[in-house]
Amino acid sequence: MFLVYENLHSITDFYKMLLVVLLIMGVTFFIVNFYLEKFLLEKVKVIYKTINNFKRTKTILNSEVKDSDLLEEVNKDVHAWSQDKLGRIEELQIQENFRKEFIGNLSHELKTPLFTIQGYILTLLDGALDDPQHNELFLKKAAKSVDRMTALLEDLDSITAAEGAELPLLKEKFDIVNLTNEVFELLESTAASSKIELRLKSSNQKSEFVNADREKITQVLTNLLLNSVKYGNKEGYTEVRFYDMDDTILIEIKDDGIGIEEEHLPRLFERFYRVDKSRSRHIAGTGLGLAITKHILEAHGHDISVRSTVGKGSTFAFSLTKA
Ligand SMILES: Nc1ncnc2c1ncn2[C@@H]1O[C@H](COP(=O)(O)OP(=O)(O)OP(=O)(O)O)[C@@H](O)[C@H]1O
Ligand SMILES: [Mg+2]
Repeated sequence: MFLVYENLHSITDFYKMLLVVLLIMGVTFFIVNFYLEKFLLEKVKVIYKTINNFKRTKTILNSEVKDSDLLEEVNKDVHAWSQDKLGRIEELQIQENFRKEFIGNLSHELKTPLFTIQGYILTLLDGALDDPQHNELFLKKAAKSVDRMTALLEDLDSITAAEGAELPLLKEKFDIVNLTNEVFELLESTAASSKIELRLKSSNQKSEFVNADREKITQVLTNLLLNSVKYGNKEGYTEVRFYDMDDTILIEIKDDGIGIEEEHLPRLFERFYRVDKSRSRHIAGTGLGLAITKHILEAHGHDISVRSTVGKGSTFAFSLTKA
């Protein structure tokens, strides 16, 4: 009887103990769970806030990372991710503005000569065709506008080719001094009409051999020299200088023309960019020359730079690898 009682007593004690242990475990679980949840919520909240704020305002919250536990690391990654996305969005916006500006410029440049041609054709059809004093003149003017459109389309072809994945270059060894003289001859009559002297710096008469695409460098020299005449002053000059820089030849084209304001210099090599549209409007051009020039030089692994002072003149400089 005593044994049975004794056994019963120990079983009750056991259950009591179990109950107490379970109770302690339960309380501990709730306390740990409560604090853990609070802790995690705090950390996740920062990440959530960063993402949410980025979605709404496209700006990044400056949530400081204090110590380096796992969640802080995740937050750091989210921060870097949003920074990257922000950069991409800005890049796409710039490209989109550029695209809109490009299409606007292109349609303007095509419309102007097209309307001129249309005007002359309609005038001729309206009776001017039988007027010997005007018919030839109108046809000549229409033909000039056709030439302008052809030149624009050729420039567009050049820039599309130059901006393509890889501009094919036919490199060869040639004398850049000799080529400059050839381009001088091509531009002689244009320069003469503004009484602008095209000359080489006196100490630069000897040959300088480079390794480059001769035809494309002819285009570069033509664009730069033509600009120096177009935006030059009457009775001024354009001087080409060559500097031996060991591995390369530095070519400088210096004029004493109207010059370019500092604010325009960073955008000068963009497609269709023309300084002061109203001033440039009466000078024929589409603003593609320098963009093509830059692309050709970049395909050769070189860059182009410019310095200019309004009223004093401009100097464009680029390098070519020596042969
Ligand atoms: N030597 C220069 N002196 C002063 N301004 C210049 C000179 N060269 C270029 N510019 C300015 O830079 C602009 C861009 O030149 P760019 O050669 O690209 O175009 P463009 O001469 O207007 O047209 P085109 O496509 O026929 O060359 C010009 O419109 C002009 O305002
Ligand atoms: Mg030009």
